[in-house]
Amino acid sequence: MNNWVENYREILPWSDYQTQVFDNLKTGKNLLIESKAGSGKTTLLEGIVASLLNQNPNHNILLLAFNKHIATELKTRERIPRECEVRTSHSMGYKLLRKHLPLLRETDSLKIPKLANEAIEKISFAESDLPKIIFNAGFEAKQRRSEFLRNLRKLVDMARNNFAQTDNELDAIREKYGFNSISKLERYWLYRCLRWILKKDEQLAKRGEIDYGDMLYLPHIWQIKPPKYHFVLVDEVQDVNTAQIRLYKSLVDRGATFIGVGDRYLTTTTNLYYLI
Ligand SMILES: Nc1ncnc2c1ncn2[C@@H]1O[C@H](COP(=O)(O)OP(=O)(O)OP(=O)(O)O)[C@@H](O)[C@H]1O
Ligand SMILES: [Mg+2]
Repeated sequence: MNNWVENYREILPWSDYQTQVFDNLKTGKNLLIESKAGSGKTTLLEGIVASLLNQNPNHNILLLAFNKHIATELKTRERIPRECEVRTSHSMGYKLLRKHLPLLRETDSLKIPKLANEAIEKISFAESDLPKIIFNAGFEAKQRRSEFLRNLRKLVDMARNNFAQTDNELDAIREKYGFNSISKLERYWLYRCLRWILKKDEQLAKRGEIDYGDMLYLPHIWQIKPPKYHFVLVDEVQDVNTAQIRLYKSLVDRGATFIGVGDRYLTTTTNLYYLI
């Protein structure tokens, strides 16, 4: 393992830019590296892992890959030494939840669709307006109901990814994602149903029922402290959402140095700069 970087150097002559990054590692500062597609960012992360382990074999490193496929590829093709923990952000969130919840079942991708159905059944019949907009719309009733459900599910995902709960926060994320064309009345009911769902979502999670969206949402809501790492390395940072950024922040708060690589223009889509 000690020869990891040396082996790497034999395979790849690092570019000046890449070498500069290795030098920067020694400062111990958080780093955000922007470069264009195909320029060697993921390879650079592999080199960073090697370099950090060469500095100190006891460095505790977490590498967060963009998706499961890349994580598996990095592990199985032995491009990353086994001493480094490689996973996706979601699998990191799952690991935190597993520690917190003794009984964790397999993820249920239908959790939110089921809750959305339940929400309109439960809430609508106790109130007067909702049936009017959803069920009593004449021959369009079915269509309106499924459109409302579709909007509701979409909004729940956006709300969890952005930790939006208040009307203003929900309005802001709808604006951000171009999801604006709904009536005032529908907005009112969407938000009511959404809050009911989010409450239920947590209750079910406590019984071990979670879905993909919960993996990043709940560790933050429940303030679960992640384990300590010396370094957290993240690939493709231009595509991360608020929930992922909160995860990185929680790792940095536990003492990790953050190193992210991503495509250029990443700052226009994320607020990662506040980490460094
Ligand atoms: N210093 C280098 N010298 C020669 N080849 C390199 C060097 N760095 C990376 N490469 C090669 O360039 C190719 C692209 O590298 P890599 O996948 O790391 O880029 P990337 O920026 O992560 O790409 P993407 O934007 O698709 O994620 C790979 O085949 C890799 O082996
Ligand atoms: Mg890459």
